[in-house]
Amino acid sequence: MIFLKIIQIFLFINYKRTMMKGNEKLISVLNSLLADELTVINQYMVQSEMCANWGYSKLHKAIRKQAMDEMFHAEWLIERIIFLEGLPTVSKLNPMKIGKTVSEMISNDDDTELKVVSEYNDAIKLAREVDDQGTVDLLTKILKMEEGHVDWAEIQRAQIDQMGLENYLASQI
Ligand SMILES: [Fe+2]
Ligand SMILES: [Fe+2]
Repeated sequence: MIFLKIIQIFLFINYKRTMMKGNEKLISVLNSLLADELTVINQYMVQSEMCANWGYSKLHKAIRKQAMDEMFHAEWLIERIIFLEGLPTVSKLNPMKIGKTVSEMISNDDDTELKVVSEYNDAIKLAREVDDQGTVDLLTKILKMEEGHVDWAEIQRAQIDQMGLENYLASQI
């Protein structure tokens, strides 16, 4: 009887392990998203401090807030990769696009966020294909925040176009 119980527990542990083990390709995609997040955290932290240095305190706060959003994304991805029994890679950074002027920063950020949105959409498709609803939910939550980042960058671009760079910058002090 005790022997049977031990076998049952052993089978249950292995069953759980099979259930938790994530799809290898998906884990690798999550790691690539993690590299994107770790890259933009650095990109935004540097840019927000550059804005602080120029006295554009509104831009400093807005970009700093985005850096913090990206930190949450990195944390959530790490958490999910570990849950799926993968190994999170935190040592990889992609090439950074740090703007030398505010216009360059906003245009780079818009391009970066658009690329990230497309990558999250692709990752969601893959997570659906491998029937990983928990990952679909997480990636969808992050995707919505990334769309908010695109929206922010596009509003800034429109304001620069409409009011001119000087007026825009005056509004950021
Ligand atoms: Fe992000
Ligand atoms: Fe973002």
